[in-house]
Amino acid sequence: MAMETGLIFHPYMRPGRTARQTLEWGVQSSIAADKAGFTSMMISEHASQIWENIPNPELIFSAAALHTKRIRFAPMAHLLPHQHPAKLAIMVGWLSRILEGRYFLGIGAGAYPLASYIHGIKNGEDTKFLNEMVRESLEIMEKIWKREPFFYEGRFWKAGYPEEVKARHEGDEQHKLADFSPWGGPPEIAVTGFSYKSPSMKLAGERNFKPVSIFSGLDALKSHWDTYCEAAIKAGHTPDRSRHAVSQTVFVAETDREAKRLVMDGPIGYCFQRYLIPIWRRFGMIDGFAKDAGIDPAKADLEFLVDKVFMVGSPQTVVDKINTLFAACGGWGTLQVESHDYYDDPTPWFQSLELITKEVAPKIKLPSAGK
Ligand SMILES: Cc1cc2nc3c(=O)[nH]c(=O)nc-3n(C[C@H](O)[C@H](O)[C@H](O)COP(=O)(O)O)c2cc1C
Repeated sequence: MAMETGLIFHPYMRPGRTARQTLEWGVQSSIAADKAGFTSMMISEHASQIWENIPNPELIFSAAALHTKRIRFAPMAHLLPHQHPAKLAIMVGWLSRILEGRYFLGIGAGAYPLASYIHGIKNGEDTKFLNEMVRESLEIMEKIWKREPFFYEGRFWKAGYPEEVKARHEGDEQHKLADFSPWGGPPEIAVTGFSYKSPSMKLAGERNFKPVSIFSGLDALKSHWDTYCEAAIKAGHTPDRSRHAVSQTVFVAETDREAKRLVMDGPIGYCFQRYLIPIWRRFGMIDGFAKDAGIDPAKADLEFLVDKVFMVGSPQTVVDKINTLFAACGGWGTLQVESHDYYDDPTPWFQSLELITKEVAPKIKLPSAGK
């Protein structure tokens, strides 16, 4: 089996794009990814970031539902501390029905304290606290999906499911509880991991959820897999590397030169120079990349990232880069391609998506199950 490809849409729209343009780019991207053979499209959720301007990924999914055929959609992630679990559980169930099962659920704690603050959480940098909220929210959502009577009074939320009155008389059927449980049973759940000793990866392992990492250097990636495996084995699950999705910046063109030029001078370079390089420095990601390459983090600039970290080049170069990384870290099952703002001229981006699925992914061998 070959590596699968997914798209992850944060969406890194340049400031000034309207809400309407972002929605259009999301739907156009879902259609192009579906046509190119991508197996999934993840969309993130952010209430505070200008460059990451989608607060409700579900709105794009429902718009894309009618225009796509095979691709599966997942919020990556719904931030559980930011919303009432009952409301979210019902929306997730309904959306998975709208998509007739082409859905899985990504959950996360939230990366930005400003977004937590908007939702009434003053200590948004306390990841332990946020992870406790994630666990309670999940417990409530799973109870709601069962459609069995309960009332829960937790530390953060209250929720319940009412007893259904048995239909006794003609006409009672009209007043039964609407069924918004997820299509085909509880959805597959994916968890985003970011930090070195990731609490999210521990949760994913314990519950046999799908692990999703952002690539931030070899040490963090290896530690994610180790943390996930340890928790999974302890809970009696068998870890399988082919379930691991890793997000990366990927751009493929006919030649290395063309690919590098299109990245450095195009929307990806524009976004990294202004937004992502400063944020990645703050989150320590640049330190991981610099350590892998043995350079001073202060010297890690856009060109370094393009040459040494991103998967940029001709199809053969990108195959070689991914195989080298697989050899160093053990590999993963899905390459989650980070999307960028090619709204003004989608052609090079959509060509890159086609090259990734046709010329790159089939040549990458999936890692075997287990460690
Ligand atoms: C692939 C991926 C997608 C993410 N998407 C979001 C998002 O949509 N919104 C957000 O605030 N944080 C997002 N995060 C960050 C998570 O909410 C969370 O802060 C992080 O995964 C915590 O990881 P940790 O448990 O390893 O510290 C994402 C992380 C990854 C790896």
